[in-house]
Amino acid sequence: MKRLIAASLAFGLVGLLLAGCGLHDVPVPENPVPGTMLPANFPAPVYALNANAPDAATFALGRSLFYDPRLSRDGSVSCGSCHQQFAAFAHQGHRLSHGVDNRLGTRNAPALQNLRWKSEFFWDGGPKNLETLPLAPLTNPLEMDETLSHVLTKLTADPIYPQRFARVYGSGPITSYQFLRALAQFTAALTSANSRYDQYVRGENHAQLSAAEQRGRVLVTQKCANCHASDLFTDETYRNNGLSDTFGADSGRAHITGRPTDVGRFKVPSLRNIALTAPYMHDGRFQTLEQVLAHYDHGVVASPTLDPALRPTGSSLGIPLTATEQADIITFLRTLTDDAFVHDPRLAEQP
Ligand code: HEC
Ligand code: HEC
Repeated sequence: MKRLIAASLAFGLVGLLLAGCGLHDVPVPENPVPGTMLPANFPAPVYALNANAPDAATFALGRSLFYDPRLSRDGSVSCGSCHQQFAAFAHQGHRLSHGVDNRLGTRNAPALQNLRWKSEFFWDGGPKNLETLPLAPLTNPLEMDETLSHVLTKLTADPIYPQRFARVYGSGPITSYQFLRALAQFTAALTSANSRYDQYVRGENHAQLSAAEQRGRVLVTQKCANCHASDLFTDETYRNNGLSDTFGADSGRAHITGRPTDVGRFKVPSLRNIALTAPYMHDGRFQTLEQVLAHYDHGVVASPTLDPALRPTGSSLGIPLTATEQADIITFLRTLTDDAFVHDPRLAEQP
């Protein structure tokens, strides 16, 4: 906390100095660490920031680590390779993840956003902790194929990193705890809550939704929000939404629980920034939102764990939607794009 106050003071001082020089149009960030404000339309977060208090230097260190390809065995892949800012930190255009030596993973890289509101991560909910999660991609042979101790050796041998770690954690060897905590300062900061939809529901900037967007919003509330719930657009449960032509190929949630009733269930993903994160689903099978809506309308396949919400009484499976309804839903989904988030220079790789 002390550090946070010190950082704010330092930034205030820079502002004063700049003002003194007459450089009034130089933008001075209010808070150098993004994501410290809680959006009024969100529920309470899970990951408490006071447990790893946001601090400008630690956040900047975490950002450098996130974009550093030396975290991978051959120096070719960074976290940012598979999690690209312009795609809300998903991997645009890639069905499955691509790791070192172009090795193909088995799942689609999800957007990284609002992670402070999650208590379980990945499509199957395996990792439960934002701080230790990076050990999974770091050591996965299909992703970064590295070891934690070797990464720490590389960072220690760097001319700059040891000073940066010492500045925030005090002198001494760089530890895995410090490395993971710094990285979590960056991932925890990835808050997306400034789409036109958000501004509209919070009554900000006179934001409006068009008639088609309003119709789409009502349809999403009626037909999708039992799973894509709240303003996070997910209820964080695991469901089978009928992609089960590959039933059991990726066992999904059952991979973690071992329960047959969890086979084919996957984490309900958020619909935020959905227009930017194609391809869709855990295996990236759909290229467009039109294909996703067509799936819900007439592509849902029956299987033992298909979600009850998608087997209405009667003959048809899924969510029947006319062409206009599908188009209205997609029009609404585009209002969930948060340009400020994907263009926030504080979240970008620094020169
Ligand atoms: C080779 C591509 C690749 C690299 C490199 C990579 N990731 Fe990922 N990331 C993925 C994939 C794929 C998933 C989904 C994994 C799953 O569901 O099994 C994922 C999931 C995540 C999630 C969970 C998101 C959620 O909402 O559940 C976080 C957080 C994350 N990655 C952070 C990182 C960090 C930090 C790094 C660097 C240490 C990193 N990733 C490196 C591909 C990658
Ligand atoms: C029964 C729960 C449920 C309902 C109802 C539902 N979804 Fe989903 N949705 C899911 C699950 C689970 C996934 C991920 C499935 C997977 O990848 O295996 C998903 C995935 C998606 C994706 C892809 C997201 C991504 O990041 O890849 C979109 C888009 C989507 N749903 C939109 C909708 C829309 C629009 C509706 C309403 C017409 C809807 N969903 C209704 C559970 C549901």
